[in-house]
Amino acid sequence: MINMKTNDDRTGFEKLSTTVFSEISMAIQSLAGEIASLIRERADKGQTVVMGLATGSTPVPLYRELIRMHREDKLSFENVITFNLDEYYPLEPGHPESYHRFMHEQLFDHIDIPADNIHIPCGNCSREEVFGKCADYEAAIEAHGGIDIQILGIGRTGHIGFNEPGSSLSSKTRLVTLDSITRSDAAKDFLGESNVPRHAITMGIGSILAARKIYMLAWGRSKAEILRKAVEEDPQESVPASFLQSHGNVHVITDEAAAVELTRNKYPWLVGFPEWTAGLIRRAVSDLSLKLGKPLLKLVDKDYQENGLADLVTEHGPAYNLNIKVFNELQHTITGWPGGKPHTDDQHRPERAEPAHKRVVVFSPEPLDDMLAMAGTLNRLVTQGHEVTVAYLTSGNLGVPDGEVRSVSELILEAGYSDPDSLAVKVSNDLEQKGAFDQDSASIRKLKGIVRRNEARASLEICGLRSCNVKFLDLPFYEHGKYRQFTTGKDDVSIVKALLEEKLPHQVFFTGASADPSSVNSKSFEVMKEAVEQLADESWITDCYFWQYATGNKEWEVDQIDMAVPCSPDELAKKIQSIYQHRSQMSQVPLMQSKHKEIWEQTQDRNRDTASRYDSLGLAEYEAIECFGKWK
Ligand code: F6R
Repeated sequence: MINMKTNDDRTGFEKLSTTVFSEISMAIQSLAGEIASLIRERADKGQTVVMGLATGSTPVPLYRELIRMHREDKLSFENVITFNLDEYYPLEPGHPESYHRFMHEQLFDHIDIPADNIHIPCGNCSREEVFGKCADYEAAIEAHGGIDIQILGIGRTGHIGFNEPGSSLSSKTRLVTLDSITRSDAAKDFLGESNVPRHAITMGIGSILAARKIYMLAWGRSKAEILRKAVEEDPQESVPASFLQSHGNVHVITDEAAAVELTRNKYPWLVGFPEWTAGLIRRAVSDLSLKLGKPLLKLVDKDYQENGLADLVTEHGPAYNLNIKVFNELQHTITGWPGGKPHTDDQHRPERAEPAHKRVVVFSPEPLDDMLAMAGTLNRLVTQGHEVTVAYLTSGNLGVPDGEVRSVSELILEAGYSDPDSLAVKVSNDLEQKGAFDQDSASIRKLKGIVRRNEARASLEICGLRSCNVKFLDLPFYEHGKYRQFTTGKDDVSIVKALLEEKLPHQVFFTGASADPSSVNSKSFEVMKEAVEQLADESWITDCYFWQYATGNKEWEVDQIDMAVPCSPDELAKKIQSIYQHRSQMSQVPLMQSKHKEIWEQTQDRNRDTASRYDSLGLAEYEAIECFGKWK
C-alpha cells in the first residue's frame, strides 16, 4: 500500500530528510551500525562520543541492538558519555517509572559504560535547586564538547524531550508542565493518570538543536498525523518537533505505519507519477469526492484536472468511468452478511456464500478491543448462525484500577467467603501492603483478570454469544510482562496455533498490524502472524479469510475498507450497551472535569463518521458502519 518510489519530488512537502523502512529491525540495524562505527572510530583515536538519549518505547529496539552488539560484537561503551533528554519531576530515581530506572534497565546495566559517564536530569532535587541543576546540566554538555548524536522520539503532542507545544526555539534545560495528552499517554505506565507527575525536567529545544547530528525515530500508526506535521508543515510552536527543520543534520527514521500520512504515501500523485493501481484509484477518487463535498457520481473532468489528478483522468478517464468504477467498488464493500450471504451469487460480495455456516474466530488483544471495533458485526455473525469463538489473547488485568478489585474483594468478604486461603482475603491483604506505585502481586493480577473476564462475558452475552464460545488465552508474554516491555515467545505462538488447529476457521478477525510496536495490540498481532505463518501449508488456512479491524480509535480510510457492515440505530444502541459492561475500563475521571470522551462515545463517533463518509460519497445513508480490511 505504501508507495516507495524514489524518483518522486517530495521537496515541496518534506522539510526533514525522512527514510521509511519496511521493517523496524532494518532501521535499527542501520542506525546502530552508524553509532557503533563512530564509537569505534573515536575509541581508536582515544576520543569520546557524546550521545543524547531518549526514553519511552521508541528507542527500546535500538538499545536492545546496542546491547547485542556489546555482547556479540565486542562493542565497548567505555568511551561513551550520555545525556538523557528528560526526567519526570518530582520523582525518585528508584521509582519504577523513573527514567533513571528505565535507562539502567533498558541499557546501562547491560553495557560497560562507566557510571560517571551517565547524565540524567534530576527528578528528586528540591524546587530551590532545580534552576541551578538545569544550568549545571547545560554546562556539563558543553564541557564534554556538545552532543555528537542525539536520539529523539516524538510524542503525540509533537513534543521532543518534554518540550510541549508552546516551547520556544531557544529553550534550554528547565522545569516544564506536562500536556494532558502526554500525561494520559503515560497513565498506563503509572497505573492511572492521577499518578503521573505534572512536571518534568527536560533539555530545551535549543539544547537539542545544538547537537551535531539528530535522529528522530517514529514507529506505529498513532504517530502518523503528528509526524506529517513535523516533517511537512512550517516550523511552529504548536508542533515542537517541527523546529528540527532549522537544523541542517536531522534524519527522521520511521516504519511504514508512522509514514502513512506523509504526502508521498497518502497522495502520491502530488509528488510524482504513481502506478495507478485499483487501490490508488479508489483512494484518489474517494478523496477527491470527500474533499470537494461532491458525491462520487457528480465529479466531472474539471474536478480531477484542478486537483492534481489530471494524469489519472487522462489515463483512466473520462471522469464518469472513474466515478462509476469507484462507486461500484465501494458499493460492493457494504454487506449486512459479514459471514457471507448463503446461497446467493457472491461475485461482488466481500465474503463467500459457502459454506453457509462458517467457523469464525475473533482474536481480541484485550477484552473490549473486539467490542469497540465489531460488536455489531459479532452480533450479526451469531444471529446468522455462524459458529463464533472469541479468543482474548491477554487477560487485560494490567488495565484494572486497584479500586475495582478492592470493591470486588470486599464484596466477596462481606458475603461471608473469608477463608484465609481464599483469593479475596489474599487480595485484600496484598492491597493493604501495596504502595502507590508497587507492581501488583500475583493474587491481585489474578483477581483483576477475573474482573475483566466477567465483564467480557457479560458484554458478549448482549451480542448473543454464550460463554462456552469465549476463550481466555492469557498469553504468557502479557502475564509475565509490563506495559511497553513485553517480549513474545514460542509459548505464546503455540497457544494461538493450538486454538486455530482446534477450530479450523473459515474466517479470522484480528487487529494490531500497524499499532505501536511496543503495545499489547502489536505484540498480539506478532504472535498471531507467527502462528498463521507456521500453519501456512494447511489446506484450511488457504481457504480462510483474514479480516482486520482497526487498532485504537483510528478507523480505516475509505480505500482500505474491504467490508463495511452497517448498524441500525437499534444495533448501535446494543453495541454501546455491550461496551458499557466493561465497567473497569470506563474513565476514572468524573466526566464534568474531563474534556476526554468516554470510550463508548468515541466508538459511536467513529462508526457514525464512517457512515457519514459513505453517505457523502453518494452511497446509502446508514446510522453507523463497522469496517474491515482484508489481510492479503
Ligand atoms: C522521552 C522523551 C519523549 C518521548 C516521546 C515518545 O525521553 O523525550 O519525547 O520520546 O514521548 O514516547 P514513546 O517513545 O513512548 O512513544
